[in-house]
Amino acid sequence: MEVLIFENEAEVADQGALLVSELVKKKPDAVLGLATGKSPILLYQNLIEYYKRGQISFKQIQTFNLDEYYGVPRTHPASYRQFMQTYLFDHIDIEVDNTYLPESAGSNPRLVGPKYEAQIKASGGIDLQILGIGRNGHIGFNEPSSSLASRTRIKTLTESTINDNRLLQEDIEMPDMAITMGIGTIMDAHRILLFATGENKSKAVKAALEGPISAMSPASALQAHEYVTVLLDEAAASELELQAYYRWVHSKSKGIKAKYGNFYEIDLTIDSTIDLTED
Ligand code: GLP
Repeated sequence: MEVLIFENEAEVADQGALLVSELVKKKPDAVLGLATGKSPILLYQNLIEYYKRGQISFKQIQTFNLDEYYGVPRTHPASYRQFMQTYLFDHIDIEVDNTYLPESAGSNPRLVGPKYEAQIKASGGIDLQILGIGRNGHIGFNEPSSSLASRTRIKTLTESTINDNRLLQEDIEMPDMAITMGIGTIMDAHRILLFATGENKSKAVKAALEGPISAMSPASALQAHEYVTVLLDEAAASELELQAYYRWVHSKSKGIKAKYGNFYEIDLTIDSTIDLTED
């Protein structure tokens, strides 16, 4: 895991937007996995700015959101579809038909998951997945005790998650079930960016990064992913034992990146350009 610690939320969002925009420039038809919640809002604002300045286009981008409330129509104010329209899609040149969220209103919940998995597969798979983390360590809506191999399916939310999410939608009755990508689905993404800011995330971050891999901390599954970057502010990083080491690695990797480019660039061209006979 690459753990990057920044002074504040704004710097976290700047760095996140830089990484996402690098991908979009390199691969204009990339497939992005998107998240809702407070954590990615600033990131989305930055991406909108990049778009408005003509630096990136989303014309050929496809997106798959992590989750959607169960049985909630896309026009409902609490729906994640509305969230995405409001905070990102309405402000960029993305084709709405290229933006996917699990659609569960009026459908058999057992079929929604396999259909979503098939849609992700048909897109070629997710190049970059953006993640937030719940205070209880959830990713998407994979609450503690979720199978680490789970695929997209219906989940019942914990009381703490319902209450936390109510803060975003104060005057609306919150749904208590959702359709979410599974942990296995998330782990299939080529690259993952996990965002966490604020002191109320510090325990979940500590368990995810430095605790044992456990279904009790769904985000800890990311320890087994090859290519995860964790972007934290000071407060979210405050409980990490290896803080000093992460900062040291960060400062060293800047030198390597300046000399050899971002690992990402290498990664996207790995099949065609690496000469295996080279030293
Ligand atoms: C919701 C979403 C998660 C998100 C979490 C944290 O439960 N389903 O994907 O990571 O909230 O949200 P916030 O960023 O608002 O703290």
